[in-house]
Amino acid sequence: MTEYAGFHPIDKSALPGQEVGVGVLGYRFMGRAHSNAYHKMPMFFWPPVAQPRLVAMCGRTEDAVAEMALRLGYEGYYTELDEMLADPRIQLFDNCASANAHVEPTLAAIAAGKHVLCEKPLAPNAADAKRMWQAAEEAGVVHMTGFNYRFVPAVRFVRDLIEQGVIGDIYSFRGAYLQEGGDNPDRPFTWRSDRSQGGYGALGDIGVHIIDLARYLVGEITTLTAMTQTFVKERPIPERPGEMGKVTVDDVFVSTVMFESGAIGTIEASKVATGRKNQNTFEINGSKASVVFDLERLNELQVYLREGTPDTLQGFANVSVTERDHPFYQFWWPHGHIIGWEHSFVGEVNHLMTAIVRGESIAPYGASFEDGYRALAVAEAVLESADKGRRIEVAY
Ligand SMILES: NC(=O)c1ccc[n+]([C@@H]2O[C@H](COP(=O)([O-])OP(=O)(O)OC[C@H]3O[C@@H](n4cnc5c(N)ncnc54)[C@H](O)[C@@H]3O)[C@@H](O)[C@H]2O)c1
Repeated sequence: MTEYAGFHPIDKSALPGQEVGVGVLGYRFMGRAHSNAYHKMPMFFWPPVAQPRLVAMCGRTEDAVAEMALRLGYEGYYTELDEMLADPRIQLFDNCASANAHVEPTLAAIAAGKHVLCEKPLAPNAADAKRMWQAAEEAGVVHMTGFNYRFVPAVRFVRDLIEQGVIGDIYSFRGAYLQEGGDNPDRPFTWRSDRSQGGYGALGDIGVHIIDLARYLVGEITTLTAMTQTFVKERPIPERPGEMGKVTVDDVFVSTVMFESGAIGTIEASKVATGRKNQNTFEINGSKASVVFDLERLNELQVYLREGTPDTLQGFANVSVTERDHPFYQFWWPHGHIIGWEHSFVGEVNHLMTAIVRGESIAPYGASFEDGYRALAVAEAVLESADKGRRIEVAY
């Protein structure tokens, strides 16, 4: 019997998909982006492989974590990580904290038998990232690094085109991740400015994303040369008015890279790219085709196909990657009804849940901890090359 004539209540226990309890550390930018994805995933990736259950957020400041847990739809919150990790309702630990809080909390979660998703950069250095990868492998838990751009439909479509041989042999990759604002000297000194607190400059903050896309699309990087530069050398410390903190990370890096396949490329990232809001872009030139992607136009792909068009009509075509047959798009809207940055996280979470529930592998289409580690091995080679002023072999 219902209270309202004609109203049929829904039995929520009939929702398809296995329940997977989630506990998230860190509740700011990424905590919000991931939480949004957990809510959206079972609605859109239908029928869902899993029903993420948002059990708890964890943070150090009680008022703030309580408010965010309420706002983002969690059942509760913890202020102590070990207590959250002891909660048997949680199967997945999602580390959205700053990079200096990635290693020990994630290792503790692995030791507690939780599956783990950790934001990039996986660790403040490659050696710690390798430890995390090995610990997760030994524990037999599912592990994923937060390289969400792999789940932009146009990016996955490029990978498909490469696998199908449409691009041909890849000659070159030109990748750049550019943001403005780093040149503002009033921006405060935070963990991001300080290498010893896990800060990693443009290289670790955004550079690892484009390094990952280079690896994802073209393959392993074997040798490189690089330069880095820091323009704003000190910044005001908010907690100590009048005091300045010494910036020990790069504002910009530029590198030339050689891939295992023999392809050659450039990879750069900048936090002082005046006018660039969030331009994550790459161009791939192959023997049969070229493609150009830009995150600020993420539903589009510029494609040049050498064959099949008369010479007089050849040129780059602007393809709207929103057809049902494009990757992930059968889950979104009718073609031309575009999606945004946050949807990449929904695809990422769906991939992770599929791996947890069905035992499928995170690699090669998702980024495992091995990928998080390998991106950092490349990042360390960038720093070493910039420091020594010579070409470096990447040590994996
Ligand atoms: N994938 C992406 O597109 C993307 C975008 C931005 C940031 N990130 C990454 O996500 C991570 C978080 O970045 P953000 O921008 O959300 O940072 P943020 O500074 O906005 O938030 C960091 C959170 O970590 C918490 N935290 C810090 N140290 C902690 C500790 N010792 N114990 C518990 N909590 C702690 C803070 O309280 C805060 O909630 C970083 O590694 C960053 O590089 C990824």
